[in-house]
Amino acid sequence: FLLGIDIGTSGTKTVLFDEMGNTIASSVGEYPLYQPNIGWAEQDPEDWWMATFTTIKEVIYKSGIDASEIKGVGLSGQMHGAVLLDKDYKVLRKSIIWCDQRSSAECDQITSIIGKERLIEITANPALTGFTASKILWVKNNEPEVYAKVTKILLPKDYIRFRLTGEFATEVSDASGMQLMDIPGRKWSNEVLDKLGIEKSMLGKLYESQEVTGKVNKEASSLTGLKEGTIVVGGAGDQAAGAIGNGIVKSGVVSSTIGTSGVVFAFSENVSIDPKGRVHTFCHAVPNTWHIMGVTQGAGLSLKWFRDNFCIEEKRTAELMGVDPYMLMDKEAERVAAGCSGLIYLPYLMGERTPHLDPNAKGVFFGLSAKHEKPDMVRAVMEGVVYSLKDCLEIIKEMGVNVSEVRASGGGGKSPLWRQMQADVFGTEITTINSSEGPALGVAILAGVGAGVYSSVMEACDKVISVKTKQQADMVINSKYNKYYDIYKRLYTSLKKDFA
Ligand code: XUL
Repeated sequence: FLLGIDIGTSGTKTVLFDEMGNTIASSVGEYPLYQPNIGWAEQDPEDWWMATFTTIKEVIYKSGIDASEIKGVGLSGQMHGAVLLDKDYKVLRKSIIWCDQRSSAECDQITSIIGKERLIEITANPALTGFTASKILWVKNNEPEVYAKVTKILLPKDYIRFRLTGEFATEVSDASGMQLMDIPGRKWSNEVLDKLGIEKSMLGKLYESQEVTGKVNKEASSLTGLKEGTIVVGGAGDQAAGAIGNGIVKSGVVSSTIGTSGVVFAFSENVSIDPKGRVHTFCHAVPNTWHIMGVTQGAGLSLKWFRDNFCIEEKRTAELMGVDPYMLMDKEAERVAAGCSGLIYLPYLMGERTPHLDPNAKGVFFGLSAKHEKPDMVRAVMEGVVYSLKDCLEIIKEMGVNVSEVRASGGGGKSPLWRQMQADVFGTEITTINSSEGPALGVAILAGVGAGVYSSVMEACDKVISVKTKQQADMVINSKYNKYYDIYKRLYTSLKKDFA
């Protein structure tokens, strides 16, 4: 058996798999998000640890297996957050996490110290508030008394690794999002660290994702029920982990994930960088490979916002029927023809990363007429999210990536209607696979490689992952969508100055 742990933003999910990738038992532990100011987002690392050890304990209990049968543990998690430890390895302050936007002044500082072009040459990305480097500098600039005590800086899942094994370690896929790495060289960048005044000794030892980074220690063993000495591999940031769990380990197949945010993720055999910085280029969790990903901020978030504010009746009916309100909303949207008779939605409720890199962008309904009803609006929201995923896909294609299949995943990937919209808008076949465990399965696979159960990530994916559903694009509807997509793109250009 293999154990995958995903330390997410709303909670930690721990899943036990057999060696064929079947789910044996799983458990979720939730925790709060603190928002002390507008645009700020923090979490307590102690909450992550509590959710981790309780869910491991529960999974072992539920499965009824002997813990000695678990051959390895893999860690996945929300990327970019900074966990700061003092000399006694105690947490100094709450972790400033990925979606926190407070560090734009520090992004300007990083760009001016290193130089925009040199920064992209080394770290493969422009300075962004989402990345860890600017969060560390924010603490240095605004809480110097805290920064003076820092001896270690860890990412969320790597803090959990420290609690499980006592080791300070990280791996290339998650560490890429710190913006302190030489991405082509897959190592810490001395130049970036020197120029930003961050000591290398503060960072964890850098591994490839499938390598063994330590073993479960005595204290963690007694809290979790795991056997002392069980190996813990590097694991991966949630996006790279989810990609492995969807089999995105070769060219041609890309994934499209609709969670709170939306991500289009492509595998790459070399370091391919968008000179405009609209998509992120990071190390993949497969040795010697990289990935490109486009991120849209308000994907599932848009439909959830519409559900919570305008679908009160659907929510009530769904509760009475014991079904998911999104299923009823799908049924409404299904009655409307593709393109919603010209009603177009821009999903920028939380600003936008790809392609606009514009925190001021706002949501829009365009083209309303007296003929439109609520089902048109539900469908327009879903189509708008897909147009924004197409923006990501188009940039990835522009960078020379061949796309023969798009694999849908995340909560939104469960809707056959939303998947068909993706097929028709992208003009590409949309598939789903046999498991929906994404990141937890991805790091269980990495644990299996580290434990010698599989010879490589590729071999494991071939063994464990198979395509379950396929939906073809309707090219007549595709040409109709292309016209609306052109209007969608023009809308942002026309409205941009008034968003600010
Ligand atoms: C990736 C990103 C998110 C977080 C939280 O760049 O910001 O995927 O990892 O899930």
